[in-house]
Amino acid sequence: MTVAVEPSKVEDGKRSKIENFDDILPYIGEAGRYQWLLFILLLPFTVVYAFLYFTQFFLTLTPEQYWCKVPELDGWNLTDHEKIALSIPAANADELKLEGATAVSRCQMYAVNYTELLMTGVRVADPSWATTKCEHGWSFNYTNIPYASIAAELEWVCDKTYLSSAAQSAFFAGSMIGGLVFGYVADHYGRIPALVACNAVGFFASIATVFANSFWSFCLCRLVVGTAFDNCFNILFIIVIEYVGPKYRTLIANLSFGIYFAVASSILPWIAYWIADWRILSVVTAAPLAIAFVGPWIVPESARWYISSGKVDKAIDMLKRFERVNGKTVQPEIYEEFRESCNNIIKNDKSHNNYTVLDLFKKPRLARITVMLIIWWLAMIIVFDGHVWNMKLLDPNVFMSFSLAALTELPAAIILAILLDRWGRRWMSFLSLAMCGIFSFIAVATPAGGPTVIMAIFARLGVNIAANIGFQYAAEMLPTVVRAQGVSLIHIIGYFAHIIGPYIVYLADVAPQLPLVVLGLLSMSTAFLTLFLPETLDQDLPESLQEGNDFGKEQSFWWIPCISRTPEKKKAYRKKLGVTNAGFNPGSLSRIDSTKL
Ligand SMILES: *[C@@H]1O[C@H](CO)[C@@H](O)[C@H](O)[C@H]1NC(C)=O
Ligand SMILES: *[C@@H]1O[C@H](CO)[C@@H](O)[C@H](O)[C@H]1NC(C)=O
Ligand SMILES: *[C@@H]1O[C@H](CO)[C@@H](O)[C@H](O)[C@H]1NC(C)=O
Repeated sequence: MTVAVEPSKVEDGKRSKIENFDDILPYIGEAGRYQWLLFILLLPFTVVYAFLYFTQFFLTLTPEQYWCKVPELDGWNLTDHEKIALSIPAANADELKLEGATAVSRCQMYAVNYTELLMTGVRVADPSWATTKCEHGWSFNYTNIPYASIAAELEWVCDKTYLSSAAQSAFFAGSMIGGLVFGYVADHYGRIPALVACNAVGFFASIATVFANSFWSFCLCRLVVGTAFDNCFNILFIIVIEYVGPKYRTLIANLSFGIYFAVASSILPWIAYWIADWRILSVVTAAPLAIAFVGPWIVPESARWYISSGKVDKAIDMLKRFERVNGKTVQPEIYEEFRESCNNIIKNDKSHNNYTVLDLFKKPRLARITVMLIIWWLAMIIVFDGHVWNMKLLDPNVFMSFSLAALTELPAAIILAILLDRWGRRWMSFLSLAMCGIFSFIAVATPAGGPTVIMAIFARLGVNIAANIGFQYAAEMLPTVVRAQGVSLIHIIGYFAHIIGPYIVYLADVAPQLPLVVLGLLSMSTAFLTLFLPETLDQDLPESLQEGNDFGKEQSFWWIPCISRTPEKKKAYRKKLGVTNAGFNPGSLSRIDSTKL
């Protein structure tokens, strides 16, 4: 069963040379038993990723309706409606302007002696009474959101609403730190130690969140949880993608991420709804992080990392493990040839190490491309997060709409798997961002409630597609010598966008429709920006800085790969080697250079 193909190839003298990592994959099995095992193992880690990203939304969710608490009324056997009728004034003009505003004021109460009034039989307020700010805290209507989040518990409402967003920003500030710390660990001590450390930190910090009892302790916990974000999943994702043969990469990458992420993030709202306690929610959503403790026994260390750090023997041990599990037999001379190629590559790689991220800005055209990529990525994250956070303004029953919006990840993945390699990165990004923009505008124009929410969900589908194209596109465009640093730079700047994303919803304080209008304008302008980037489909990857600078110069603005692929163009654009999702990582030099190995 195991012998068949490879030895006969050798005898014919037809066996192709083993020049890089991808060449040896067919011998150990490109999509064998071990790869499928890893594919399944991606599930818990993708769940971790989705939960880390979105749990905070539910930890800080506040009911739409709240009003001042008046302790004096408690002894009087009044229903909430009766209490409101007596103690809460109608919302004033400023409050009514807010999206999702309630008819009664959220932050004002009448300043009168209720005991006296009740004794004289008064049950309905007189609008001429003097009002004051809430003095004894707030009551919440828990009909739609059946639990008190930390934001409700600590009363982050009225002039303190921004605290929820500030906590969200702390989370992403944490991811910035985590990206640097765990990126360093991954490069110097290996991918597996980084993966385990990162998940362990996320796990314990999520548990610690339970004990948070103030804004600052909550922020601190979230900041530490945030350090796990991204790396907890990315490291494994890249390992898996590396071990899968190039022709299966697009499929495995899109399927695993698309399906797992869509499922995980669309069930999260229901978990939150069903648990209905933010502390338990924090613990339950941390549970999948614990998988990291058994990870090292199942997950193989990245062979490419071994190679790039000079440990070729260990890399070969790893490959032998795949050989065993996949039930293949590989001739020793194949490993020998591989060892030689690796040693050559290591030598060549040394010469790449003198480049820094600043080299991206030394050539004018490359500098322009880089800046455009950064702006493109920033804007897209703001649009993405903006749509996520805006959902709570659009729909009081946020659980259903959040779940549906998250589910759009699934069609996004399918659309990408089918179209990305036909239509090209450029037009696909343009169309998806334009779709996001158009539906954002339509959402503004449609009546509040269901119709707006549906339009916003379509907009989210658009930005989901664009976000999935994003990193692959950037990695394909930047020249090899600085690709990893370039992608990291874009990634890290992206965290700033995450930090400001949650504040988009406060534009609603200026005018209720403003968040959607801004998101629409932003995605429209980003869509047009994409058209000024070169297409990378079927291109050779640029290697040197000069190639990066000249990349796509010859392309016509109107070139659409699926329509106008003339014979000459086909000749000029040779098929590039699979680097699918090479850039889907916060990457270090070795990480992406090794993807090229
Ligand atoms: C409170 O009011 C409800 C209805 O208004 C009444 O059924 C109930 O008996 C009252 N309870 C007390 C303790 O007065
Ligand atoms: C609470 O919300 C529900 C559903 O929106 C509504 O039916 C109920 O009247 C509200 N209660 C109060 C006290 O406003
Ligand atoms: C309200 O009036 C009652 C009876 O007149 C009085 O005993 C009580 O002290 C007053 N409460 C406040 C807060 O002024």
